[in-house]
Amino acid sequence: MENYGVQIFGSDIESLSFAAEKVSKDFDILDINMGCPAPKVVKNGDGSKLLQNLDLVGSIVEEVVRASSTPVSVKIRKGWSKSNDVSIEAAKIIEQAGASMITIHGRTRDEFFAGEVDLEAIKKVKEAVHIPVIGNGNIVDEKSALKMFEYTGVDGIMIGRASIGNPWIFKQIIHYLQTGEKLPSISNQEKLETMIKHIELEVEQKGERVGIPELRKHMACYIKNLPNASKIRVRINQINTKGELISFLKECF
Ligand SMILES: Cc1cc2nc3c(=O)[nH]c(=O)nc-3n(C[C@H](O)[C@H](O)[C@H](O)COP(=O)(O)O)c2cc1C
Repeated sequence: MENYGVQIFGSDIESLSFAAEKVSKDFDILDINMGCPAPKVVKNGDGSKLLQNLDLVGSIVEEVVRASSTPVSVKIRKGWSKSNDVSIEAAKIIEQAGASMITIHGRTRDEFFAGEVDLEAIKKVKEAVHIPVIGNGNIVDEKSALKMFEYTGVDGIMIGRASIGNPWIFKQIIHYLQTGEKLPSISNQEKLETMIKHIELEVEQKGERVGIPELRKHMACYIKNLPNASKIRVRINQINTKGELISFLKECF
């Protein structure tokens, strides 16, 4: 069964509740982003900045749960900084306010995306609440996925960066967790077919003018292990149409 989630962010209770009411009916999960570290987000008090105001966190979750017609989950980080690890307190407040699930990225805002992920903190959050907890951060392959489950006891995992240019990571990890065996590597043919599908979906949604530039970073990740990857990337960055991009990729593969 496939479930689709949508995420909202902000710190104004009224706007969040309005958004929740509008979008929740079309999705299976409504997530609130309380983990984003981006300066343009935190300067408005949104994303991970909320972890410095746990009273507001509780009020937001309560109100969004009330307004949403689908279960609400919340994505958090450990806290704002090393001296502000609020993960357990935040998780309890979020659960108390009616959320159905928590995802925790085991880093503070100050750490952005670098360095080790604190599995111990994720484990403590899992132990502190009764709702499902999803562990996130630096899961890049079968081994790191298994480690997240085994070390922390989480109910699920979330994979971010390692899926860019590698959408097969999900089926590879699921297969490994279910059977203990690794799937063979993806063939170039399957890779090419997926890239073409990705290009077609993007251009269908956004048109060539917006879609093709947005695709460049994804294409760079798909091709990064090919011989001549840097030359291919340079050429991809000069292409502006779907037809040209697809025929160039067919040549490369
Ligand atoms: C380019 C980029 C965009 C992201 N956008 C979001 C977002 O919109 N919402 C969110 O909850 N997390 C977002 N994240 C954070 C990821 O969900 C995840 O928490 C983080 O990358 C750590 O997991 P990873 O090591 O698997 O990438 C983003 C991360 C990156 C690198």
